[in-house]
Amino acid sequence: MSVNSIPVIAIDGPSASGKGSVAERVAHQLGFHYLDSGALYRIVALAAHNKQIAWSDGATLGTMIPNLHIAFTNGEVLLNGENVSTAIRSPAMSNGASQVAVHPAVRNALLALQHSFRKAPGLVADGRDMASVVFTDAQLKIFLTANVEERANRRYKQLIQQNIDANYDVILQDLQERDARDKTRSSAPLMQTKEAILLDTDNRNIAQAVAFVLKEYQASLQKFNSQQ
Ligand code: DC
Repeated sequence: MSVNSIPVIAIDGPSASGKGSVAERVAHQLGFHYLDSGALYRIVALAAHNKQIAWSDGATLGTMIPNLHIAFTNGEVLLNGENVSTAIRSPAMSNGASQVAVHPAVRNALLALQHSFRKAPGLVADGRDMASVVFTDAQLKIFLTANVEERANRRYKQLIQQNIDANYDVILQDLQERDARDKTRSSAPLMQTKEAILLDTDNRNIAQAVAFVLKEYQASLQKFNSQQ
């Protein structure tokens, strides 16, 4: 099986839209691999913070990336052997990830690593540019979104459940800032490609969103088979 014939389901969308949970469950149901590309940008932000490299210094960040040892093992994210699963989810690293992601040098340095996740029997990849840049030949492209108040509300409830102090207005403002940065940057901005199917989750829970993606995937397979 050539790499290009391995199916990819690309799920793009804004921060806190729930695309990670949906993508992970779709991958599990299909027995596919899963790529959380946002985690890579978060790792870059954390590694830069540890090495005291500014998030605005794209050139230095780009040369730092090939020397990082990044692994996803048993649901944990490891940076140079250290479990950073919790550290990369902090509000500071969410913000840092969005800042390091504007640099073409950072995006290019992460490209080959993202491609290496494409393994049989298939891959579900979530992020901002999975359909537009990284896996342009994806079998199925989904643009998963929800309005910003709904996303802020979900993030707020999630933090409270984890006993983490949270303020709805601060979360809302942070999401609005990250949305604006992710959509307006010149390199690989967040966007819905013309082939992507819109999945609006304002009125759908995770199980319904997963069912939607699986149904679209089956439909894409039937379409593909009928064209052979
Ligand atoms: O999906 P997330 O919230 O974990 O992503 C964190 C940041 O990383 C997000 O603000 C923008 C950036 N990102 C990106 O630019 N491209 C991707 N494919 C994934 C994430």
